[in-house]
Amino acid sequence: METKNIRPFPKNFLWGSATAAFQCEGAAHEDGKGLSVMDVRKQDPSICNYEVASDHYHHYKEDVALMKECGLKAYRFSIAWTRIFPQGNGAVNQKGVDFYNALIDELIAAGIEPIVTLYHFEYPQGLIEQYGGWLDRRSIDDYVSYAEFCFKTFGDRVKYWLTINEQDHVVHMPFRLGLSEGDIHETEKAGFLANHHMCVAAARAFKACHELVKDGKIGPAVCFDMLYPTSNRPADALAWLDAMDLRNYYVLDMNVHGEYNGTFRRYLEDRGMMPPILPGDMELMRENRPDFIGFNYYASKSISAFPTDENNKIGDIAIKLLPDREAGIYQVVKNQNLSATLWGWEIDDIGLESVCRLLWDRYRLPLLITENGFGNKETPDENGMVIDDDRIDYLSRHLLAVKKAMNVGVGFLGYCTWSFMDIVSGHSGFSKRYGLVRVNREEHELKDLSRSKKKSFYWYQETIRQNGDNI
Ligand code: BG6
Repeated sequence: METKNIRPFPKNFLWGSATAAFQCEGAAHEDGKGLSVMDVRKQDPSICNYEVASDHYHHYKEDVALMKECGLKAYRFSIAWTRIFPQGNGAVNQKGVDFYNALIDELIAAGIEPIVTLYHFEYPQGLIEQYGGWLDRRSIDDYVSYAEFCFKTFGDRVKYWLTINEQDHVVHMPFRLGLSEGDIHETEKAGFLANHHMCVAAARAFKACHELVKDGKIGPAVCFDMLYPTSNRPADALAWLDAMDLRNYYVLDMNVHGEYNGTFRRYLEDRGMMPPILPGDMELMRENRPDFIGFNYYASKSISAFPTDENNKIGDIAIKLLPDREAGIYQVVKNQNLSATLWGWEIDDIGLESVCRLLWDRYRLPLLITENGFGNKETPDENGMVIDDDRIDYLSRHLLAVKKAMNVGVGFLGYCTWSFMDIVSGHSGFSKRYGLVRVNREEHELKDLSRSKKKSFYWYQETIRQNGDNI
């Protein structure tokens, strides 16, 4: 709604930016790091792998100095689990611990609050080989042991923790679970078993963080696209409700309310995919809640009804990567009202405002936007600078959405742009850039990996300096 006045950003707002270990660190085989599922992933050879990435492992001091110059109040990064435990469990790799201690100390000295993701896609390959990873309940103990180690080792300085990045996507991506594509029904079923184990593991991590980290706060980091009913046909509105439950709320409902929402439960039961729930699992979730909701927001999607017919029956799983079309439930259709990135992600800042309000209404926990950013193909101009006006426009409009959500009472901790420096994009390598800082490399040509500030760096610096009064 439009209002006469808009409240300013609060003084303690965490102006942040984010990365993930496998996308920026490089040094994939250095100093004792073990392999993760991302390292062994078979991928399109035209896209770079993660061996060097942005070489943050060797440039971290320079990168933190740039963060300080930008004025960041917070930096979200992930710990590569296999740098600490090369096999996922067992012996600790001291050099990995040393790296994160050094990075955290550098951030603290720069006055930047570290926000640490424990697990951002890079599951230890060792645990896949030992017992099949998240499909086995032993995965819960190993995740919790790793989390406890991190809380005890870094918790004197790290007060904000994130359990699992985009669990809601991981469970639909076989390779991120260490599975081959295989039978789609079995793969889906395995994904939802993994989902249950991750929710139990997250609840135990919430508990451990509260016990081990003085003043520690912890939450999930889900992906949350705004969804719309495509029309005012009642069937589209109902399909939208189903899609919200099945795509957006299902993990958070378990994390926060300790329950499978009714739509999700019926969906799983209908398809014979309900995972075994052991006594105590749901109680554990209900008793150990997160302190905030972390979420990544990039785009919105439009939903319309998709009735069954002789060709499309309930339980025919027409999904692979993400469920964009399911007979008897819904389908995703193009929204004619929005423009999109080069990759077809529909740009929608008003959608973010709606998401913030929906999340606040349903969970009443403060929000932390853990990722929001604009991916683009980029080349520097004749002066060597990337003039990324599209990114500035995208970020400022999304920040205005945050401001407007706060204006009607939504509680917020902060906001992180994705990403601070250019990183390897999950699906498009170095051809799709997100950073405020350019990293001088191409897809396969490493060049000198030097850093240079984009126009958006200066825009974000000024925005933080004004505490968002320019938004
Ligand atoms: C989020 C992930 O899904 O989206 C990031 O947490 C990822 O790791 C980001 O980079 C953007 O996706 P992509 O495929 O453009 O890199």
